[in-house]
Formats: sequence, structure tokens, C-alpha cells
Amino acid sequence: MYYIDTLKKEHEYIIKLTDHILEVSKDIMHGHVNASAIRTITDVIKNYADGYHHKKEEDLVFRAMLDHLGELAEKLITSGMLVEHDLARYERMMIDESLKHYEENQTDEVRLELIGHLMSYRSLLIRHADKENKVVYPFAMKNLSEEIQKKLDEETKVFEEENKEQRDRYLDIINKF
Ligand SMILES: [Fe+2]
Ligand SMILES: [Fe+2]
Repeated sequence: MYYIDTLKKEHEYIIKLTDHILEVSKDIMHGHVNASAIRTITDVIKNYADGYHHKKEEDLVFRAMLDHLGELAEKLITSGMLVEHDLARYERMMIDESLKHYEENQTDEVRLELIGHLMSYRSLLIRHADKENKVVYPFAMKNLSEEIQKKLDEETKVFEEENKEQRDRYLDIINKF
């Protein structure tokens, strides 16, 4: 199904982002804090991983699962995926906070704080995307009716058209990582 294929493709870009996060974290460990690279990372998290991909999941497939698939889907989405999206937002905010701390005070503690939040975001997203690929998306494809899935394909195309500029801008950045 188109709506799932595009979400899985987006996970590949998000994994590319997490690889870049690892490289930037290693640089911090070796004493080089690249503030502009870290700002680019939180911008990509905010406007692509969250503002585009998580938004698409929440508005389309998760919404459909909550509306049509009962208690198990409710648990999987509300207590699982949405909690993790919120945790990812928290880690993004903490990366920004830690960078501010670093600009005020260049200590080992602050460098560790930065690495800690960057690596937490990375491991959270790797695990989250894997769970969606292996459990949540197959659950949706197996249980949502054909009619609803066709509608999700259409809605995905509309979403992509409406957010084309934003998506292309961030894919350009990710492709340069
Ligand atoms: Fe997600
Ligand atoms: Fe996802």
C-alpha cells in the first residue's frame, strides 16, 4: 500500500539522520562541538521527523487505527507510539537546551549532557521505527478494510502535495549528511 511504502521510506531518511547524530556525537566526545550541525539536527527533527513524518502518522494511519481497530490498536497507539513521539519531542527540546548550556558554560558535564540527549534521541528513534515497520504497520495493513486503506493512500497523496516544499527542503539536507 502506498501510505505504508512512503512511511517506510521516511524511516530510511530518519535512520540516515540517526547515523549523522552518531557522527556528530563522536565529534563532541573528541572535543569538537559543532553548534551549527547540532542546530541543523534539531531543525530536521522538528520539521521533518516530527513535523512531517510523525504528523503524517498521527493524522492519517494512527487516526484510522484508533477509529476502526478497537482496544488493541488503542493500546498500541495511545500507550505506545504516541508516548514515544512525545519522548522524541522531549529529547529534541533537551538537545536544544543542552546546546544553550554549552554556549554559556563549556564544561565536560555539559558536553556529556549533549551527547546523552543526542544518543537518547537516536536509540529511541531506531527502536521506534523498527517497531512500526515490524508490528504497527503490518497490524494496520492486516486489519484495516481495503476501503479505508485506499482512502489512506489518497489522503497520503494530498498530504504529500500540500507539504511538498517542506519535505523536499529537508530531504535535501538529509541527503547531504
Ligand atoms: Fe512514529
Ligand atoms: Fe514512523
